[in-house]
Amino acid sequence: MLVLKTIDELRQQITDWRNSRLEIACVLTMGNLHSGHLSLVDKAKQVSDKIVVTIFVNPTQFVRGEDFESYPRTLDTDMEKLQALDVDLLFCPDVSEIYPSGGESQICVEVPSHLENIYCGKSRPGHFTGVATVVTKLFNIVQPDIAVFGEKDYQQLLVIKQLVKDLCFPVEIISMPTVREANGLAMSSRNTYLDEQETVIAATIHDVLEKIAAEIRSGSDNYKKLVQQGKKTLTRAGLKTDYLDVADAETLGEPGDGDLVVLVAAVIGKARLIDNVTIRR
Ligand code: PAJ
Repeated sequence: MLVLKTIDELRQQITDWRNSRLEIACVLTMGNLHSGHLSLVDKAKQVSDKIVVTIFVNPTQFVRGEDFESYPRTLDTDMEKLQALDVDLLFCPDVSEIYPSGGESQICVEVPSHLENIYCGKSRPGHFTGVATVVTKLFNIVQPDIAVFGEKDYQQLLVIKQLVKDLCFPVEIISMPTVREANGLAMSSRNTYLDEQETVIAATIHDVLEKIAAEIRSGSDNYKKLVQQGKKTLTRAGLKTDYLDVADAETLGEPGDGDLVVLVAAVIGKARLIDNVTIRR
């Protein structure tokens, strides 16, 4: 596996592959890789000739006071995992390589308010602008044909799909289902913040989502009541709900007759955890 830290080196390699007409798929990550990330890498391997994984803890998507400094950085073990999966290239640049003009004084990609001002965007102002900007940069650097993202970060996935459409990136976006621990807890790098007891409690998040989804699948459309009950369950378990809601799966607008998504963000200890379940109709 090639491990590169500069854009110049990466571009040279990408140009060689392009000249040989090889298809490139990428998986963008912030590292501390778990089976969720690795499922994306597996998919990328199935659909392309060459796989590029990026590990970059992107400062501009963290809001002031969040966990940018303490975000788990485990490059050595990450590299072992990627090597075992036969990844062709790991790009792990320094912050100055991606933000040469500094984070604050550079051009960035604005996310429209219907995606920026709700759910995670509302609680984390500027977060999706940071995500859209770094994904744009990484797409411009890697120039992939295909990029694989996880459905666990549902709102992020919608932002990225719209980014690709609106800014005309020639990149196919493939999404993959959420990989979970045995107790249902969605795998996340932030799960490393949880102690044993908190890990047990955090599984309530998925229980609540599944319960609401089951009620809807069996005909209930009293979303307000389902959400209220769900919030109560989370609070009783010891979780602080940031949001829990039922929304249209494509737009995150008011739920209608189309596919639905139940979305949640909840805090326990030092961890803010997100999860979702979709309901196809
Ligand atoms: P990160 O949280 O490291 O996630 C990288 C990719 O892994 C994302 O596409 C995310 O949806 C996916 N992922 C995370 N947990 C998953 C799980 N349990 N099952 C399946 N997929 C999972 O998302 C980011 O990084 C960043 O915002 C990034 C897109 C890299 C931009 O900085």
